[in-house]
Amino acid sequence: MIYQSLKKQDPEIAELIQKEIDRQKNGLVMIPSENHCSVAVLEAMGTVLSNKYAEGYPQKRYYTGNQYIDQIEQLAIDRAKKLFSAEHANVQPNAGSPANLAIYLALLKPGDKVMGMKLDQGGHLTHGHPVNLSGQLYNFVQYGVRKDTEQIDLDEIREMAKKEKPKMIVTGATAYPRIFDFKAFRKICDEVDAILLADISHFVGLCLSDDHPKPFPFADVVMTTTHKTLRGPRSAIILTKKEYAKAIDKAIFPGTQGGPLENMIAAKAVCFAEAAKPEFKTYAHQIVLNAKTLAETFIQEGLELVSGGTDNHLMLIKCAPLGLTGRQGSEALAQGGIYTNRNTIPYDTGTAFEPTGIRLGTPALTSRGMKEGQMKIIGKIIAKVLKNINNDNILKELKDVVAQLCQEFPVYKEMTI
Ligand SMILES: Cc1ncc(COP(=O)(O)O)c(C=O)c1O
Repeated sequence: MIYQSLKKQDPEIAELIQKEIDRQKNGLVMIPSENHCSVAVLEAMGTVLSNKYAEGYPQKRYYTGNQYIDQIEQLAIDRAKKLFSAEHANVQPNAGSPANLAIYLALLKPGDKVMGMKLDQGGHLTHGHPVNLSGQLYNFVQYGVRKDTEQIDLDEIREMAKKEKPKMIVTGATAYPRIFDFKAFRKICDEVDAILLADISHFVGLCLSDDHPKPFPFADVVMTTTHKTLRGPRSAIILTKKEYAKAIDKAIFPGTQGGPLENMIAAKAVCFAEAAKPEFKTYAHQIVLNAKTLAETFIQEGLELVSGGTDNHLMLIKCAPLGLTGRQGSEALAQGGIYTNRNTIPYDTGTAFEPTGIRLGTPALTSRGMKEGQMKIIGKIIAKVLKNINNDNILKELKDVVAQLCQEFPVYKEMTI
């Protein structure tokens, strides 16, 4: 990477970037919404494409000089459509939250009824939480998981849909360790004449490897972020059936965004090409194998997990039985170089800011090449730390394990400022 000018012109920022490179190299990222994208993706992001204004869409721009930008964006669109078997792709969303809001703008009217998953049981803020614009503009009614199984119950959802008659049902989640049965959701939507939105941001990579059901042909609209299990840049896309294409494009530009970030669009094109390779399927399978092994190790070590395990890339550890809050647990792990995040646990007493769980997963560890053997080592040391919080000897043991694994499974090996 060419960082010479940055180092010379802004040593203060250069030094902080170097520190962040070192943090990522020398720690284990287990936040399930994070990943390590390829150097090719990073390179595409740091290009002069960022200098160009390109309001509009390929061949329909408001500025001149877009002949190469048009080709880049068209490549991204074509690759996205092929990868996801989608009839239409909009690759301009800057991130997942504005993409969801644009979908609502396109397909709903303020005050329309929508069903989405509760934030404290796994859903995302943009799935109707009152602090988010989604919850303020639209009349969201929220479904959750069953208290006994801590899993979605499709019969309950069908009943709710029949009673509420929503215009749209939002599926997908940010902290749910099981799968979404899109075919079954489609049937429910058809029964009540609702639009089906699949927000596959978290498990998108698993959809490509068939470790999770694919959203098409069942969903009407699909939104995914590109930086999680897809291993791309920090961004998002919207995929739709043809009949919604025009409305979605209009809702992104001029509805909610201005000039698209073409450097990010180029990086998305690079990540779609990477995800189309057979190696990506192997990678995504391994994410799930690793998550299942990690969950089994936790259970063997006596930890309690939401829904008793995982079918995807993430899991939630209940900290209350250990006498801890999620903050205490995640901060103890971060001290030793394992990064997770605190999270609510369904039906528990914690708040969003002071919850009683830890959410963690395997996408980034799998990107480093780790397999089941490493998951057992990591699972055991995490359990040991959580059961012996504030024990300096165990913290030292954690740091040693992290250092050894980071040395054995390097990331961004040659990268330095
Ligand atoms: C399911 C889901 N939807 C949407 C988003 C929003 O994405 P972003 O953070 O890019 O706005 C996230 C991010 O965590 C998510 O998990």
